[in-house]
Amino acid sequence: MRAFAILASLVPAALAATYSLTDDYVGPNFLTGFTHQAIADPTNGRVNYVNQTTALAQNLTYVSSDTIIMRADDTTVLSASGPGRNSVRIQSVKTYTTHVAVFDIRHMPQGCATWPAAWETGPNWPDSGEVDIVEGVNDESPNASTLHTSPNCTMPSGIVQSGTPVYTNCDATVNGNSGCGVRAPTTNSYGPTFNANGGGWYAMERTNTYIKVWFWPRNSATVPSDVSTSGSASVNTSNWGEPYAYFPNTDCDLASHFAANNIIINLTLCGDWAGAVFNSDGCSGNCVTYVNENPSDFTNAYWNIAAVRVYE
Ligand SMILES: *[C@@H]1O[C@H](CO)[C@@H](O)[C@H](O)[C@H]1NC(C)=O
Ligand SMILES: *[C@@H]1O[C@H](CO)[C@@H](O)[C@H](O)[C@H]1NC(C)=O
Ligand SMILES: *[C@@H]1O[C@H](CO)[C@@H](O)[C@H](O)[C@H]1NC(C)=O
Ligand SMILES: *[C@@H]1O[C@H](CO)[C@@H](O)[C@H](O)[C@H]1NC(C)=O
Ligand SMILES: *[C@@H]1O[C@H](CO)[C@@H](O)[C@H](O)[C@H]1NC(C)=O
Ligand SMILES: *[C@@H]1O[C@H](CO)[C@@H](O)[C@H](O)[C@H]1NC(C)=O
Repeated sequence: MRAFAILASLVPAALAATYSLTDDYVGPNFLTGFTHQAIADPTNGRVNYVNQTTALAQNLTYVSSDTIIMRADDTTVLSASGPGRNSVRIQSVKTYTTHVAVFDIRHMPQGCATWPAAWETGPNWPDSGEVDIVEGVNDESPNASTLHTSPNCTMPSGIVQSGTPVYTNCDATVNGNSGCGVRAPTTNSYGPTFNANGGGWYAMERTNTYIKVWFWPRNSATVPSDVSTSGSASVNTSNWGEPYAYFPNTDCDLASHFAANNIIINLTLCGDWAGAVFNSDGCSGNCVTYVNENPSDFTNAYWNIAAVRVYE
């Protein structure tokens, strides 16, 4: 029985649930439901995060009734001794514990040096946990969904999921803070291929028993109607099929490793990850110099997001 119980726990169970829409972030709602964080980039990127007033004035953040666009500046040649390229990082005012977040994304930042992420975290990192829902660098893999936690949180082998695990120890203090990540199974989940296809939907479900991430490309035949229907009042994750990333609580007490988290959407350039693998990802020269001198190469370094919907 015990062996059966352990095996069963590695298979995404259909025990989940129906959740109701609590926050429907669309267009102008992003300007009140999220804060623009004009902070120093904790990952040492070649960016200068601007506040909401500046972002709107410079049209780095633009909203219409059904769209938010957030981009890096693509017109200014930077002085090597001055601040980095203007960019945007937004954080939800509200925090969430057990919930489902659906990201309807039309376009994500692409190009050499870009390091975009849509993710969740809380205070006193990594004690509140971190869930990277979609993240990648320089248009390349590993584009992955990853947990970063305090010690004593690992993922077992044999998990049933459509993605490919990278590391299994989620502890942010080991493996150079690689976390426990799962690579998306399809090429259209990230970067230029994602954008050429019109983007798609990422969804993350967090409970105290598991965290799951799904991705459906635009025009997917299998996207659930409660995901693809704009403003759907509720979602039933039991009908969503196998997630590509499944993080069970078998060897990680999720309840004590994850606190209330904010949703964050950011775009940094170079920095600890994108800068370190700039050349091995096929980009030439020095990442910081490239960012300084080639503003027009950042024309496609923008998010176009139709909605972020949170269900609790
Ligand atoms: C951007 O998001 C990623 C999430 O994966 C995070 O690790 C990184 O610290 C963030 N960078 C900034 C500057 O916000
Ligand atoms: C926004 O940033 C600009 C440029 O740094 C600064 O002049 C302005 O006072 C800031 N506005 C707010 C509301 O913080
Ligand atoms: C601001 O950006 C939006 C979206 O890219 C664009 O449609 C609009 O024309 C821009 N506005 C200005 C004043 O450049
Ligand atoms: C994203 O990751 C998948 C799986 O590793 C890979 O097949 C795909 O090529 C990656 N996408 C990009 C744009 O690198
Ligand atoms: C959610 O979907 C499952 C599986 O189809 C179904 O058994 C359950 O009744 C649904 N829950 C609700 C509240 O509709
Ligand atoms: C590690 O977590 C397990 C639960 O997953 C718990 O039983 C154990 O006490 C924890 N160990 C430490 C040192 O906190």
